[in-house]
Amino acid sequence: MKNGELTQAHTLAFNQAFNQAFTQAFTQAFTQAFGQEPALVAYAPGRVNLIGDHTDYNLGWVLPVALDRGTLVAASQRDDFQIQVVARDMDNEQVSFSLDDQAMAQMPLDSVSPWSNYVRGTVKMLSAYLAETGQPPLRGASLMITGNLPKGAGLSSSASLEMALIKAFAGLFDLKIDGIKAAQLGQQAENEFVGCNCGIMDQLISAMGEAERAMLLDCSDLAINQVALPRSLSLMIINSNVKRALVGSEYNLRREQCQKVAQYFGVSSLRQVSYKQLCQAEASLEPTLFRRARHVVSENARVLEMAEALSAGDSARIGRLMAASHRSLRDDFAVSTPEVDCLVALVSEVLGMDGGARMTGGGFGGCVVALLPEHKIAEVRETIAAEYQARTGLTADIYLCHSGAGAFA
Ligand code: GLA
Repeated sequence: MKNGELTQAHTLAFNQAFNQAFTQAFTQAFTQAFGQEPALVAYAPGRVNLIGDHTDYNLGWVLPVALDRGTLVAASQRDDFQIQVVARDMDNEQVSFSLDDQAMAQMPLDSVSPWSNYVRGTVKMLSAYLAETGQPPLRGASLMITGNLPKGAGLSSSASLEMALIKAFAGLFDLKIDGIKAAQLGQQAENEFVGCNCGIMDQLISAMGEAERAMLLDCSDLAINQVALPRSLSLMIINSNVKRALVGSEYNLRREQCQKVAQYFGVSSLRQVSYKQLCQAEASLEPTLFRRARHVVSENARVLEMAEALSAGDSARIGRLMAASHRSLRDDFAVSTPEVDCLVALVSEVLGMDGGARMTGGGFGGCVVALLPEHKIAEVRETIAAEYQARTGLTADIYLCHSGAGAFA
């Protein structure tokens, strides 16, 4: 957002995400912290995945939606080679580090302010990319971060921070960097600096999502097909508020298990294994590994079918696919939790054949996504209010979301 240079679509998406009072208070806080107004405010959305979980790092298909919620990074240039960054939503915690080559090469993980690792990792990968492509190195910047995504809920607040940061740097220093490269740098920051072996889905949808569309992404060649969302269905996200534990280690373990099965078949990813081949090998595979791979291979087929069902606005088929995806993630991939299963069951019972619900994202807690007709929203809310706490001892947060635009500055 550079003084009134937003396109109309961006203005709409931006205003949907953050109201004017919020943005004004944010830029004022920046001015107070750094003694100058921000030169720009960059934005990148969080995401919800409609179907296709744990398929991205197996080079399969995913179908995420960019949300109308995300992360803002206000930025201005500095005269030195320091990055100074304030996290407004973390009690204005402040972190600074140097951009010089040695500092970049030896950058340690920050255990005191772990949020800053996403900034450190992104800056490190961006600097390396600029050097590789012969672009001038980064100069210093003052940054302030805020956002309206629930943290740790599995809606990709970290990917949206990475993408907003890259947009902010690109805007400040006129860098040439497209959405795919931005996503790859964000993923590299996670894989090589933060230590999470995530795939590319979250960063790519945050960088390149489009309002009113889901993104059918082929993770093997990053080909994108935008799929119109049916107007007849609303997008609801329900946060189970399960404290996510072991997410990193279990996630990385699942990835290794998938890799082992690919190795068994002598291929580089499960994308190259068909359902038939997998079933023929069942007796020779360790049962857990077989189930992990069965999830991935069957989920890929469901993603492609879901893209068709969305285009046709076929809410019964959408519901069946979401239910099958949930069962597969729960039983074969073992990444759901009883609380999340409870939410999916409650919502599915209200919906019947009219839309569907499933866990979404990496799992081990986090959110449920539902696609449902407007006239069912109140009943779903009431059912969750009446049953979820009684059955699990937790309360759920419900967000009625819209799809929004990808990152911009
Ligand atoms: C996390 C990762 C993604 C993807 C999902 C599961 O969100 O960051 O790359 O693997 O889990 O689909």
